[in-house]
Amino acid sequence: VLSVAIPDDVLYAPVRHSTRILILAGGMTLALALLLGLAIGRRIAGAITALVGNAERVGRGDRIAPRETGILETDRVSQSLYLASERLYQSAQERAVLLQRTLTAQEDERKRIAREIHDTLGQYLTALRLALNGIEAVCAPDQAARQRLVELKKLAGDLGRELNRMAWQLRPMALDDLGLRRAVTQYLEEWADRSQLRIELEIDLDDRRLPQAVETALFRVLQEAITNVVKHSGASQVSVILTAADDALRMIVEDDGRGFDLDSGTDGLALGLRHLGLLGVRERLALIGGSLELESSAQGGTAVYVRIPL
Ligand SMILES: Nc1ncnc2c1ncn2[C@@H]1O[C@H](COP(=O)(O)OP(=O)(O)O)[C@@H](O)[C@H]1O
Ligand SMILES: [Mg+2]
Repeated sequence: VLSVAIPDDVLYAPVRHSTRILILAGGMTLALALLLGLAIGRRIAGAITALVGNAERVGRGDRIAPRETGILETDRVSQSLYLASERLYQSAQERAVLLQRTLTAQEDERKRIAREIHDTLGQYLTALRLALNGIEAVCAPDQAARQRLVELKKLAGDLGRELNRMAWQLRPMALDDLGLRRAVTQYLEEWADRSQLRIELEIDLDDRRLPQAVETALFRVLQEAITNVVKHSGASQVSVILTAADDALRMIVEDDGRGFDLDSGTDGLALGLRHLGLLGVRERLALIGGSLELESSAQGGTAVYVRIPL
């Protein structure tokens, strides 16, 4: 028997060699796969990150530009976001135009009716008063007729005052004829007479006439703010500050009554359709680039800040 002894390291050398090569190849494949995975992951993450900013802007209602992300699927999402933002923008524009037209039509109509009441009905009333004066002599001898005449004159007086009030409520002619300062002063004097409210007015407007849309908007905002004070706050005092600088017209209406919780119902979304006053005011101001801020607390009363750029 012949036994040939091959030393172990010679015998296993080819096996070890192949094993080493296998391990090396495996390791390299693994590293390559990892690198590839990383690259793909980064590419996708990059594309998605690019979309996030746009999605957030669409969420806020901003207008965005389409964004190339380099991946087919995310490009499609990006395009959809872009189209959605364009549609939102479009409908916001349309709504603004519609609101603008509605408000203009409403103001024009109010102006027309107010003038009609003042002029046409006012003329009839003047004729009636003249006629009543005319029969004074006729009635003089008759005690009962004299008495009736006094009553009729009082009735005519009441009617005149009521017509004036109606016309004034529809649209103060001061707003068209005399300007914002007079309209505001008259309006607040009216309320001071009619209610228990102490009204402080600080007004710093030079006599230049502002664009009519601005004057009307500011007056309507003041009306809403004061009506709210009277209706909701139980305040005893309200202060109105109205100033015009070169850049903007500013108004603050501040009361000392019971305030309200701003979160529960005035931000427009939570408001629903029940309370349209402040919502309407906001929209109206937005149309002319203006803004409305509110501060309110249970003890500290409510302050309304209005700014309209000039
Ligand atoms: N000056 C204020 N003082 C207290 N609460 C107010 C004042 N202004 C507004 N509010 C509250 O905010 C709500 C919304 O006001 P608004 O939009 O004008 O609707 P409306 O006057 O029709 O109720 C009111 O119902 C009221 O509760
Ligand atoms: Mg209101």
